[in-house]
Amino acid sequence: MDDLVNVHDFERRAADVLEAGVHGYYAGGAGDERTLHDNAAAFARYRLRPRVLVDVSETTAATTVLGAPVSMPVLVAPTALHRLAHDDGEPGTARAAAAAGTIFTLSTLATSRPSACAIDGAHQWFQLYVLKDRAVSTALMEEAVDCGFEAIVLTVDAPRAGRRERDFRTGFAVPPGIDMPAVQAATGAPVCPTPQEFFELVDTTLTWRALEELVDASPVPVVVKGVHTAEDALLAAEHGAAAVIVSNHGGRQLDAVPASLDMLPEVVDAVGDRVEVLMDGGVRRGTDVLVALALGARAVLVGRPVLWGLACGGEQGVARVLQLLHDEVQLGLTLLGAPSPSHVIRAHLTP
Ligand code: FNR
Ligand code: LAC
Repeated sequence: MDDLVNVHDFERRAADVLEAGVHGYYAGGAGDERTLHDNAAAFARYRLRPRVLVDVSETTAATTVLGAPVSMPVLVAPTALHRLAHDDGEPGTARAAAAAGTIFTLSTLATSRPSACAIDGAHQWFQLYVLKDRAVSTALMEEAVDCGFEAIVLTVDAPRAGRRERDFRTGFAVPPGIDMPAVQAATGAPVCPTPQEFFELVDTTLTWRALEELVDASPVPVVVKGVHTAEDALLAAEHGAAAVIVSNHGGRQLDAVPASLDMLPEVVDAVGDRVEVLMDGGVRRGTDVLVALALGARAVLVGRPVLWGLACGGEQGVARVLQLLHDEVQLGLTLLGAPSPSHVIRAHLTP
């Protein structure tokens, strides 16, 4: 792994080591993958405006998210089926995130139970899909909260799976021996569903009232993931969300929506003074993180980079990806003349 010096190197190596169906599932987006490509391309449409002769001797990438201290404004996004990348699975990813000092988000579609991923003293979130059978989603949430997960991330952009044509071509299915133990325990399903089958269970009647009910029922803050617009960000804040994640699910849901980065300013303008605004989609470099911070994000999340790390080296691979991102953010802040994430402002950017 020593020859992999950035996230792009990990991405290329992962394409070599992963089985084609798994790689297509991880890498792919919906439809023509316009949004998938645009997520990354959007960062390249900005340039940074560094300030000089600022004392950067004590530069730190550390910040807080929902009050929790993190070593950098880069968190681990929820992604499904980690054991398809490496036997270390979600527990390995969780250990790497904890060691890196950042927040790990466990997907509902995890191949390990929350108890296997919980780490004392670490800050961890649980991503929830609300299912038609509310008892199942309540059981999933309660299990995670009992294990010490500190926030529920309610994903709202996936009432069904997007049209992922790579999966159609490869006939992607979850191989025998891989389970989603929490989902299967809650539903009583003997075999692991494919992501497509899982989405049949998702409640498509959900409205803002359900968010309010979840906020009332949850002993921990609720983060709404998958907000694209100022209108919905305002509704999320009004219905009790503690934070919103501007996200298009890594371009995997509705294709032809704008890059997440391009939706960030309107959401920040609408609710930035009321709730924390996070974003994900296409973040591959420390400089991408700086651009998102300058547009008002409190922090970003990374999905695929973590999966590439896991595929290339299990827990150690994830640790290395997070270390690279940390070092890139820290160096970037130093060269930008911003001694901490909170010093990054819009004037640090030019289109
Ligand atoms: C995801 N994502 C996701 N989101 C979620 O809320 N629950 C989930 O189970 C999953 N599963 C999942 C699997 C895979 C393979 C990918 C690539 C993504 C979306 C994820 O949280 C995040 O929004 C994107 O991955 C961010 O984009 P990047 O960083 O992958 O470009
Ligand atoms: C996905 C689901 C699991 O993006 O969120 O595949």
